[in-house]
Amino acid sequence: MEIRPVGADELPQFVRADHAGFGFVSTDDNVTDAQQFLELDRTLAVFDGDEIVGTAAAFSFEVTLPGLATLPAAGVTWVSVLPTHRRRGVLRSLMVRQLDDVAARGEPLAILTASEGGIYERFGYGPATFNYDIELDRSRVEFRDVLPDDGRVRMVDAEAARKLLPPVFDQVWRARPGDHRRNDGFWDYWFQDKQQWREGMSARFYAVHESAAGEVDGFVAYRRKTGWDTHGNPDGAAKVDDLFATTWTAYAALWRHVLGLDLVRTVTACDRPADDPLRWMVTDPRSVRVVACNDDLWVRVLDVPRALSARSYETPGRLVLRVEDALRPQTAGCYVLDGGVCSPTNDAPDLVLDVAVLGSVYLGGARVADVAAAGRIEERTPGAVATADAMFRSHPLPASQTGF
Ligand SMILES: CC(C)(COP(=O)(O)OP(=O)(O)OC[C@H]1O[C@@H](n2cnc3c(N)ncnc32)[C@H](O)[C@@H]1OP(=O)(O)O)[C@@H](O)C(=O)NCCC(=O)NCCS
Repeated sequence: MEIRPVGADELPQFVRADHAGFGFVSTDDNVTDAQQFLELDRTLAVFDGDEIVGTAAAFSFEVTLPGLATLPAAGVTWVSVLPTHRRRGVLRSLMVRQLDDVAARGEPLAILTASEGGIYERFGYGPATFNYDIELDRSRVEFRDVLPDDGRVRMVDAEAARKLLPPVFDQVWRARPGDHRRNDGFWDYWFQDKQQWREGMSARFYAVHESAAGEVDGFVAYRRKTGWDTHGNPDGAAKVDDLFATTWTAYAALWRHVLGLDLVRTVTACDRPADDPLRWMVTDPRSVRVVACNDDLWVRVLDVPRALSARSYETPGRLVLRVEDALRPQTAGCYVLDGGVCSPTNDAPDLVLDVAVLGSVYLGGARVADVAAAGRIEERTPGAVATADAMFRSHPLPASQTGF
């Protein structure tokens, strides 16, 4: 079966095939959206005759690393196979071809979020960031008398938000390993705030935080649903879509705003970084209930020396890693990491690990010691796991704060 990028005229068919695999019936609106944000030359379609039976695409991202340098990364997305063609190797052919294309573009990393946890390890991806969904009962939340706000929180409409939010996020993603830039296409799409994204709640409300100097240094976007229980008590809900700030003072002020909303009983927020300091800002840490903890970003390393040389390390150290890669033997080999610089070597390895495991520990979101405890990293030199564990940690923890 032929695999190739689609042309503009084939996009409706591409969208239809992708959506059918996911169990959605596509609409003209979906095609318009795809025209707006898909990079056509980075689409891949598998054709059975004239019919598109498998899809994949990639975004050209730049991802933040521990130490806050950035690297180009392919944001893999729109992976789908028609139910009529499943389990015949269509996905495998897409993955092999896509990784060749990514390598040819000189991108050392590919990243994705997975619909199911069992699919992508065989293609060299490892779960690399983990995030929390949280739920707060407003009546139980009390803020400590810390981080007093010398600025103010101001509600703004969508038009003003379109101008004010992107510059804040532009600072936020650069300060968080695992994160990537939101381009104009993303923001235009996000601000459409479509009815089907609301799940029975309101359109988004936007509030920004201004520092004492009058600079916007944080924002929150949330939805509400107002209601009363059978006893006539307020039973409303608020759902935080995004809450970002460049200072912890602004961050706390924005949470105070959401947790101060009258008539709201429950506040929820999804995909929060695992090191979110919110629990330390309130008097009762259990009032911030973690209701789910899931893998988020999966990382695939294609160029080991470039990837390992670009990030920084928490402690100095020298390690020789043997990386195994059944899918792409050109990535496999022995590499020495010394003084933060990585290069191929003929030295004997201290640690032996699969490329998917390297992807998991690369951003510091999975601990080397934990993965080694599961038997997934072979320690050839005593103490090498502890050395790598100390080196590969990251603060802040990595998180991907923009779905794709
Ligand atoms: C997931 C999906 C793309 C797989 O496509 P496919 O063409 O059936 O996959 P392939 O036949 O190429 O299978 C390749 C390998 O992955 C495995 N695999 C495929 N789907 C899997 C799944 N859902 N869970 C675990 N393993 C899976 C196959 O067993 C095969 O393993 P092997 O080659 O090591 O023996 C397809 O089922 C689909 O479209 N699902 C719904 C949409 C979706 O979830 N897309 C992924 C978005 S992140």
